[in-house]
Amino acid sequence: AARKGSIVQRLENAFQEGIDAAFPALAGQVGAIVQPCNNPKFGDYQCNNAMALHGRLKGQPDAPKNPRAVAEAILAALPETGMVAETSLAGPGFINIRIDSSWLAQHVTHMLRNGIATWAPLGYTGQKVVVDFSSPNVAKEMHVGHLRSTILGDVIARTLEFCGADVKRLNHIGDWGTQFGMLIQYMAEKREGGLNAATDEDVADLQVLYRAAKQRFDEEEDFKTRAREAVTELQSGRPEYLQAWQRICDASRREFQKIYDRLDVTLEERGESFYNPMLKPLVEDLMARGVAVESDGAKCVFVEGKDIPLIVQKSDGGFGYASTDMAAVKHRIDEEKADWIIYITDMGQSSHFDLVFAGAEKAGYLPKDRKVRIDHVGFGLVLGDDGKKFRSRSGDVVRLVELLDEAKRRIVDTVKERRPDATPEEVEEASRAMGYGAVKYADLKNHRTTNYRFSYDDMLSQQGNTAVYQLYAHARIASIVRKSGRDIAALCQTAEVKLVHEKEVALALTISQFSEAVESMLEELLPHRLTEYLYDLATVFNQFYTECQVVGSPEEDSRLLLCEATSLTMRACFQLLGIHVLYRI
Ligand code: ARG
Repeated sequence: AARKGSIVQRLENAFQEGIDAAFPALAGQVGAIVQPCNNPKFGDYQCNNAMALHGRLKGQPDAPKNPRAVAEAILAALPETGMVAETSLAGPGFINIRIDSSWLAQHVTHMLRNGIATWAPLGYTGQKVVVDFSSPNVAKEMHVGHLRSTILGDVIARTLEFCGADVKRLNHIGDWGTQFGMLIQYMAEKREGGLNAATDEDVADLQVLYRAAKQRFDEEEDFKTRAREAVTELQSGRPEYLQAWQRICDASRREFQKIYDRLDVTLEERGESFYNPMLKPLVEDLMARGVAVESDGAKCVFVEGKDIPLIVQKSDGGFGYASTDMAAVKHRIDEEKADWIIYITDMGQSSHFDLVFAGAEKAGYLPKDRKVRIDHVGFGLVLGDDGKKFRSRSGDVVRLVELLDEAKRRIVDTVKERRPDATPEEVEEASRAMGYGAVKYADLKNHRTTNYRFSYDDMLSQQGNTAVYQLYAHARIASIVRKSGRDIAALCQTAEVKLVHEKEVALALTISQFSEAVESMLEELLPHRLTEYLYDLATVFNQFYTECQVVGSPEEDSRLLLCEATSLTMRACFQLLGIHVLYRI
């Protein structure tokens, strides 16, 4: 019981001991590999080390004659854990492992008494993680790509927080750049009094402002020149220009916040402008150390193996997206003391991030005294029903607030139908949870690198792997417990899970695999591992509930505990997925 962590982790620890003890000459050189069994008929987990070990031992005195003999030696040296009911050998030397059902029963009982936080994967506590996500651009439309980044980033941040990491959720808003010259100049020329006469009304609809300004910029040569001068004015900090810039940012911020409120996502704004003062010294330092060199008038960092350089300063003296990201990496490592930095954008930006990461390494920004992990989490496109790029009917980019509210609106009838007695507040709560939850879930359930089709009908379906289905499944289990009339909190502290029926064993095993789902989600930063797990759990629960009577059966106590453990684990998943839980629907 001293060892913690998921079942896989615990088994790997045990097999590690077994391998090291059986073959001391290789101790410390071979990592134990345990994974879920390919065929559940033969076991719950399997260890596949024997074949490779046999290869490494070949030629040594007393080397086992075949992989099966290696497997037998490992099993003979396996320490007693209480977890393993039986093992068997299959094929050339696979070791199948059946988990002991009384160990499982204890494992679930322990969780019910001590909380599901005790099942959080180990190794993340206290880690400082910067998650850079959402990151829309001011005065440009926040599009479905930013929605994906927001949803994926939030789940990754929530999961890390659950595991005890110290997470910094940074919104790297595109709030600086040449587009502001065009916008500000347009504002300046709109009114008699110039910028001093500008009002919030001028920025009320930023899309309209952006389109109008862009049109003039594209059509009028003189305006283009004046817009460029406006950029210079802004950069040199002229008050009315800064004020106009601020006004535009504030208006954008209010729009973004509407989305974050609906999705219940928190973010700390740290836009590109934050890094502005750091850019000049950064480039000077890189040039002085010869990390950056001049090329065609631009200042560039050339990294081995890449055909294009990282441009830290453009030939016109301006700083671009890459300059800012170099400064941001440095700041996050030096000032934020990050152990792990995660960027969430569409896959189209992966070469940009590859360059930035390689550039940061070449510049010596990665600390010597600690290991910093840096990941770009790329994702695919959101497609319309027609399989083409997602657009609104008018062909414009989709307004995200409308998209979210439409999902909510479409589920209202279902909510009312299923619970005619619900109060208006309850209908509101349920349709928010289901509508917004459906959009999130539809996004999360796909492997993030694939493109997926946005379909209200699919995501709001009551059947299949959807948020609506999961929320109903949870509410149903919660109501079994509630309607039993038993004091479930007290029962958790006094009663014990007992596993007799095979469906009970299967359910307890699946519940326990929560830790593995979280673990594998974080290892590869793949949120669909969580939705897959949740779907699996609901399915296995249904099989249990079909065959095992709960209330009124001799096993009522233990089975109620299994129901409670299921719904509690589902709630933990909802929490990680950022989906509001419903108890009565
Ligand atoms: N604003 C960028 C965009 O909309 C995303 C920023 C991602 N974060 C970063 N540090 N580059 O494409």
